[in-house]
Amino acid sequence: MEYAIKTIGVLTSGGDAPGMNAAVRAVVRAAIINNIRVKAVFRGYKGLMDDEVQEFTSQDVSGIIQRGGTILKSARSEEFRTQEGRARAYATIKKEKIDALIVIGGDGSFTGARLLAQEYNIPVIGIPGTIDNDLWGTDATIGYDTALNTIMECVDKLRDTGTSHERLFLVEVMGRDAGFLTLSAAIAAGAEAAIIPEKATVAEQLEAAIGHGRRKHKNSSIVLVQEHAIEGGAQAVAKVIEQSHPEYGTRVTILGHLQRGGSPTAYDRILASRLGCAAIQALLDEQRSIMVGVQNSEIVYVPLTQAIKYKKNIKDDKWQALQVLSI
Ligand code: F6P
Repeated sequence: MEYAIKTIGVLTSGGDAPGMNAAVRAVVRAAIINNIRVKAVFRGYKGLMDDEVQEFTSQDVSGIIQRGGTILKSARSEEFRTQEGRARAYATIKKEKIDALIVIGGDGSFTGARLLAQEYNIPVIGIPGTIDNDLWGTDATIGYDTALNTIMECVDKLRDTGTSHERLFLVEVMGRDAGFLTLSAAIAAGAEAAIIPEKATVAEQLEAAIGHGRRKHKNSSIVLVQEHAIEGGAQAVAKVIEQSHPEYGTRVTILGHLQRGGSPTAYDRILASRLGCAAIQALLDEQRSIMVGVQNSEIVYVPLTQAIKYKKNIKDDKWQALQVLSI
């Protein structure tokens, strides 16, 4: 019996993440090998509403596995949040004869995907792609490992100058509402402390940071500050420290969007390749409205509703490790 899904659409949405191209490549090739046609949708949901669609062959995804960003472009669309916007998107889906949609993005993108699936009864599969790693139901998201390595390399460099000048460096790290990147980067770079939204109050974390660094035997230190742990981010933390400890020679570095760039690590390329293939397999398995993820290195199917609704927790042992190792 021929499988009902003949054509799929694939798009990347929300903040770009290194490895998205590897995922697009995997989706396209895994689909084609299963006799499913692929329509690439450009600029995320905006492109879906505006019918920015092009059929992809296997050759269209050649030479992209190593490239950061997304060849499909990405966007955050306010209009897609409205019913009218989603109706426009569905008009494209019908016009292009797309039978199922694969969405590579984070939880904002999955929220839109779920609504579209509900309203128009279309199979949707999510592939987690965000540097924030904040999706419940998967151990890792595409782009997280690359961003983590980028941050670690930046902090290593800052330590060189920080040590030379005996300064306190506050490094602001992305993550939206989550501290995964900040905490893991702090451990990997040997930072003295991390200030993240999930733990204690900022005042307490700050106190610990100062205690672990300057007040003891160290005369330079690095504290990673999650961008939304405190209003005003690392600059706000710096103001507090400059007042209480003007002698610290505090400096602030905001890593910003460079954290989203660069060639994906081997880990992210492999993760993206596996998840891209898994997304097609999920469609063949007649799955709908699920996210493909990895748990303990195994591929899992997670209902989109759960991936969106539940909050992924910071691992306690990681938090403890940072406290222990930064004495
Ligand atoms: O979700 C990815 C992310 O990079 C967050 O870490 C950050 O808060 C946000 O996107 C930045 O968004 P924008 O690129 O729209 O400024």
